Amino acid sequence: MGHLNNRRVLLAVCGGIAAYKSAELVRRLQDLGAEVRVLMTRGAQEFITPLTLQALSGHAVHHSLLDEEAERGMGHIELARWADLLLIAPTTADALARLVAGRADDLLGAVALATPAPKLLAPAMNQQMWKDPATQGNVTTLENRGIHFVGPAAGEQACGDVGPGRMEEPEFIARAAAALFATGLLAGQQVLITAGPTREPLDPVRYISNHSSGRMGYALAQAAVDAGARVTLVSGPVTLTAPERVTVRPVTTAQEMLDACLEHSKTTDIFISCAAVADYRPIEIASQKIKKHDAELSLSLVRNPDILATVSRSTPRPYCVGFAAETQDLRDHALGKLQSKNLDMIVGNDVSDPRIGFNSDENAALLLWADGERAVERCSKHTLAQIIVEEIARRRTS
Ligand code: PMT
Repeated sequence: MGHLNNRRVLLAVCGGIAAYKSAELVRRLQDLGAEVRVLMTRGAQEFITPLTLQALSGHAVHHSLLDEEAERGMGHIELARWADLLLIAPTTADALARLVAGRADDLLGAVALATPAPKLLAPAMNQQMWKDPATQGNVTTLENRGIHFVGPAAGEQACGDVGPGRMEEPEFIARAAAALFATGLLAGQQVLITAGPTREPLDPVRYISNHSSGRMGYALAQAAVDAGARVTLVSGPVTLTAPERVTVRPVTTAQEMLDACLEHSKTTDIFISCAAVADYRPIEIASQKIKKHDAELSLSLVRNPDILATVSRSTPRPYCVGFAAETQDLRDHALGKLQSKNLDMIVGNDVSDPRIGFNSDENAALLLWADGERAVERCSKHTLAQIIVEEIARRRTS
């Protein structure tokens, strides 16, 4: 069964009698592991109070396009970037028409335009309104734009009519949301991913490391599992829980990470090197805690092996994807690493911006391969991970 672990679902509730089911829907989404935030149209607030949805989701409900609470007064952009999925339930006939027109004069319309996340709509309306050619035309237009639908179900309606137009049951909608992330793009493939930092000990209590949280690598593991792959995650020390169905190999140092990778790389179809591996380690590890005698202390360091370059030189060689963490000249430096490490693809990310890169929930990237590139604007690491997995699947078969 699908799940929504680590997924951020923005549930948009429109003004229809089915809005009462949205409270239950919040719970069912959470049961599948999602973090849920709620957006309500003005009409929705006539049917159910924001307080109910606030209490269930654990977050303030969003309803205004001009949001003074938002970091930069642009709540719609922040929400649009936050979401891994925009779920509109119930979707009224009016909301469908507004989405077709691309209206941006309310929060839902603006978020729908601004988000790169997939959209899932659960229509609910009178059966005659649903059957009307205008509504059916709108549904076709939205489907052609890649928007997903769940329902409506047929049966007795609140207005007394019988026919198609009832919002699907919350559990069914939550499962449909989870199924969207199960792409099958890497079905049967063996994927090896490194994540997190390495730690290079100086003495029994100190080490050299960096700020990698592991979030990007763990999001990749989730995206690869969702795409049907068998995933081994070689992880440096992080505080994250691994996604379900992922085999984790915890390691500490770069040498241990290399050893673990070489153990698996021969049976791997795709290698994604997302770990922030320490480039150097102390030549010697002091057996006792180093004492502070002098005003200055010099450390002698030696280069660590390059795990990615080693795997990419090995035979049989998996499809190799590297990351480039850069603070300047992102494109040039990433291209240099693509070539020097003999990679199939590299994901360049600017780690000078504290909102993205190391130890943040979001990232932005420039994906590069021998004869092409794709820029991905700031989005959640889960969304970026999905895009990387899609691009890997596309490049490997093209
Ligand atoms: O973990 P998060 O907090 O979510 O942060 C994500 C991230 C910023 C760590 C991630 O997006 C990222 O950029 N990872 C690569 C970090 C890095 O070490 O970049 P680099 O440009 O120094 O290395 C280039 C590539 O070589 C990387 O794929 C790296 O994994 C690999 N490498 C580097 C050195 C080494 N000794 N062995 C390697 O395999």
